[in-house]
Amino acid sequence: MSHRPTVVLDCDPGHDDALAIAVAARHTELLGITTVAGNVPLELTTRNARAVVAVLGLDVPVHRGSERPLVAEPRTAEFIHGASGLDGPALPTELPALASEDAVGFLIDAVRARPGEVWIVATGPLTNVAKALQAAPDLAEAVAGISIMGGGVPFGNVTAAAEFNVLVDPEAADVVFRSGARLVMAGLNVTHQWRVGRPEIERLRATGGRVAGFCADLLSFYGDAYARAFSGVPEGPLHDPCAVLALTHPALFESTPHHVVVELTGAHTRGMTLADLRGVRRAAPPNVEVLTRIDAAAANDLLVATLATYG
Ligand code: BDR
Ligand code: CA
Repeated sequence: MSHRPTVVLDCDPGHDDALAIAVAARHTELLGITTVAGNVPLELTTRNARAVVAVLGLDVPVHRGSERPLVAEPRTAEFIHGASGLDGPALPTELPALASEDAVGFLIDAVRARPGEVWIVATGPLTNVAKALQAAPDLAEAVAGISIMGGGVPFGNVTAAAEFNVLVDPEAADVVFRSGARLVMAGLNVTHQWRVGRPEIERLRATGGRVAGFCADLLSFYGDAYARAFSGVPEGPLHDPCAVLALTHPALFESTPHHVVVELTGAHTRGMTLADLRGVRRAAPPNVEVLTRIDAAAANDLLVATLATYG
């Protein structure tokens, strides 16, 4: 069963962000894309979002967002995404115009315009989302929810404890996790279950579409980067599409509610999403629906079928 939610996608493309855009554009009412500094600096994540919109042939506004984290020094991930943030395929040079330079204002207006209806899907550092919640505290109640790719229960990727999106802007993640908004979390514990390597990439390429070919080139670079950086195996986890599919195809997932806090000060654990897994009565009440399992084969079938629709 699928469901077509209304969504603003806040992202830092990024290979897996690009795939999240492609999935969101087909399976949600996508009101807009907001960009944030993360995988690469903001100029590039914004350029890349517009490039993906052009490749996919979408009519979706792109709003430029935050250039740096709330408190932390900027941190990027060229070691995974390359110098451009989308290394692999050739990127278009003709880009759609930027809709605005006020992603935070767009997020606030979009949510307030349809109280209880609009989901924010966040696949980058949570800077824009935190700023929106700080500027408009009513958003926590007005938003349908926030579906986050970030964190991990109980492990990280950049450090043993911390996942990239949360580590880049832990103070922003802390604002979001304490906001009281309905939260769904696609952390590394679930995204690492959906890895795409050479067989899946060839299957995608074999569909013959231009967009499928573009995505196959993205995934090929991404898989090789993961092999170099982490595992030695040329396959990459499809982190960011999980945050979209959690809303559009919830039957692909299992989840459990937990109380989750963001560690801000630990010498070894800054940026960790600490989930209370004790299952005892004195545990704090759950604030996050934590995804725990994905049917990776079904998710992959869906991804291939979705990308094939672009021709
Ligand atoms: C997250 O970090 C980024 O590199 C990816 O785009 C994803 O959002 C995974 O840790
Ligand atoms: Ca991302």
